[in-house]
Amino acid sequence: MPRSGLAHRVASVVPYPPQIRLFKSQFGQRLARRRPGWLGSPDFDVTPMVSAIQAHAPGRSFLDVGCMWGVHGRYTFLAEEAGSSRAMGLDVMGPTPECLAEIERRGSTAEFFTGDVTDADVQDKIGLVDVVFCSGVLYHHPSPWDLLLSLRRMTGSVLVLGTQTIPEVPGLPGAAVYWPSLDDEQRRLWQLQPLGAGQQLAISTPYQAESGYGNWFWGMSPSCVRGLLHNAGFEVIEEAALYAFGHQFTCRPFTPAWPEVDEPH
Ligand SMILES: C[S@@+](CC[C@H](N)C(=O)[O-])C[C@H]1O[C@@H](n2cnc3c(N)ncnc32)[C@H](O)[C@@H]1O
Repeated sequence: MPRSGLAHRVASVVPYPPQIRLFKSQFGQRLARRRPGWLGSPDFDVTPMVSAIQAHAPGRSFLDVGCMWGVHGRYTFLAEEAGSSRAMGLDVMGPTPECLAEIERRGSTAEFFTGDVTDADVQDKIGLVDVVFCSGVLYHHPSPWDLLLSLRRMTGSVLVLGTQTIPEVPGLPGAAVYWPSLDDEQRRLWQLQPLGAGQQLAISTPYQAESGYGNWFWGMSPSCVRGLLHNAGFEVIEEAALYAFGHQFTCRPFTPAWPEVDEPH
């Protein structure tokens, strides 16, 4: 949800770190509940994700990239339920016991692949998919550009990208923060426990190289993500704020000048 004109004016005079503290405070959350649109929703809202799947999956092949941790294939099953012609999930983690139990319970024909989406062999094995859904993965990748190019190679018709973002920095469009290099004090600003987040590796703890994609790497503003999407070959056709620190982009592929990316099919 875009911030209102008044919120925009407030944002342009209040220094940035106090704004972030306000977004996370009880007071800020009360304000957000009372004045929707001021600070973004205080609660993480999955409605736009569910609506996008229900709108785009029927009759089309569907791939949920990063389908497993904490959700156990939930969005892949939702696409199957919505009438996807072929519902697939991909994750570096294999299917969890909860996911396997759900396949059994539903008699599901959803396919779950184990592998890294940036691996060319994995992309070749799965091939081109009508609808690619990728939620909660972009900020966990040290090279968001490589991740988006990988998604672009696999997207036939629509990409739905949900990701953690940072609020826009007034006067600095396209801004991003690289979390692993911050010290303890600097990282504290980005801890989202007051909003109900659990552990955020490289934010609530120091960076852990051995945890790989478990770390939080890039805090990108929506305008930064939009710019990356464009250069990777995605035109944004719809946007929604999931809460003050999360955004969803629905995109169509187009042919960018970047040499490694083919024409959309
Ligand atoms: C924070 S969870 C997000 C889960 C779910 N999509 C959601 O929105 O709640 C990130 C998931 O992406 C997976 N993942 C991270 N990097 C990946 C990659 N390069 N290729 C495939 N899966 C990846 C992780 O294993 C994890 O299951």
